[in-house]
Amino acid sequence: MLCATAIPAPVPFFDKLVAASLPLVPRPIVRRLSARYIAGEARGDALARGAELQQAGYGVTYDLLGEAVKDRAEVHAAADEYRALIDALVDGGLERNVSLKPTQMGLDLGEDVCFEVVDALGHYAAERDAFLRFEMEDSPTVDGTLRVFERLRAAHGGRVGCVLQSMLHRTPDDVRGLLDQPHPLNVRMVKGIYVEPEAIAWQQPGKVTEAFLECTRMLLDGGAFVGVATHDEAVVDGLCEYLDGAPEARGRCEIQMLLGVREELRAKVRERGLPVRVYVPYGESWYPYVMRRLKGNPKLARYALFGMFGRREDLSQD
Ligand code: FDA
Repeated sequence: MLCATAIPAPVPFFDKLVAASLPLVPRPIVRRLSARYIAGEARGDALARGAELQQAGYGVTYDLLGEAVKDRAEVHAAADEYRALIDALVDGGLERNVSLKPTQMGLDLGEDVCFEVVDALGHYAAERDAFLRFEMEDSPTVDGTLRVFERLRAAHGGRVGCVLQSMLHRTPDDVRGLLDQPHPLNVRMVKGIYVEPEAIAWQQPGKVTEAFLECTRMLLDGGAFVGVATHDEAVVDGLCEYLDGAPEARGRCEIQMLLGVREELRAKVRERGLPVRVYVPYGESWYPYVMRRLKGNPKLARYALFGMFGRREDLSQD
């Protein structure tokens, strides 16, 4: 274990300053701190981590890192990697559940391009009994993502799921819109990781949590499967309270957590009778993903900054 040196007490203003300074931190330092959040750069790293988690009784979803892809060949390369990943999961006897970013699948090149790429992947996945989660990115992409998702859902039913962000004011309406359609519905509910303007998004954490639980209830009441993706015990408590009054919904939900975030919570959640799925990202395009995670963890972000000055910190307790 490395030796801890004094770190200044966390104060919100300082945290904001640290978050704003993160882009100045050299990549090798960010890379060192990212080890907890990503399985590695190679597919084999993700498969090894996924196998360990599956062995320990957790579900897994695999994510190839990458976003905002503007080049058609790169989009197809990412889709090919997902095919190879699904094949490797089949060969390894592992659960086949993968997560895709719309802008990695060509959304910036047009909704038709994105639909064609993910639709083809959906057919490939169907033949191999795999599930695809079409994720959600920042607010300018939400309409396009939901339109592409509705086409995917019409074509592939519950084999393709989506993500909704409770921080956005629009989300209860989106829930109602999705529940209005006749096809099976599988939603990952999240708070939302992107910085969004006050005019369209709740800024107070309490409001985001309240909206999270409200949307989750609406989805479960409406018969959807919900992946409740959170590390917030207040959300887990709220879900358990709901399930006490609606035990029939128990088989239609699970908790989802990110690799490297609050790992001690996983077992506690499982003891409460909820299945847990872990999100295992891998690939060479780790930088934007890791920067978002570091901004969500001011303490680790401070370590990154102090790491620039050669301090060695004990990261084991964060
Ligand atoms: P909150 O942010 O309040 O965190 C709860 C507690 O967890 C905090 O007190 C803190 O201690 C701890 N914590 C949170 N982040 C941490 C970190 N990085 N390091 C250490 N501790 C941390 N978002 C999105 O916009 N689109 C998407 O498609 C997805 N997909 C997705 C999949 C999965 C499986 C998860 C778990 C999350 C996402 N997200 C996402 C991210 C999501 O929107 C949200 O930003 C994070 O889950 C953090 O929100 P929490 O609900 O955990 O609450």
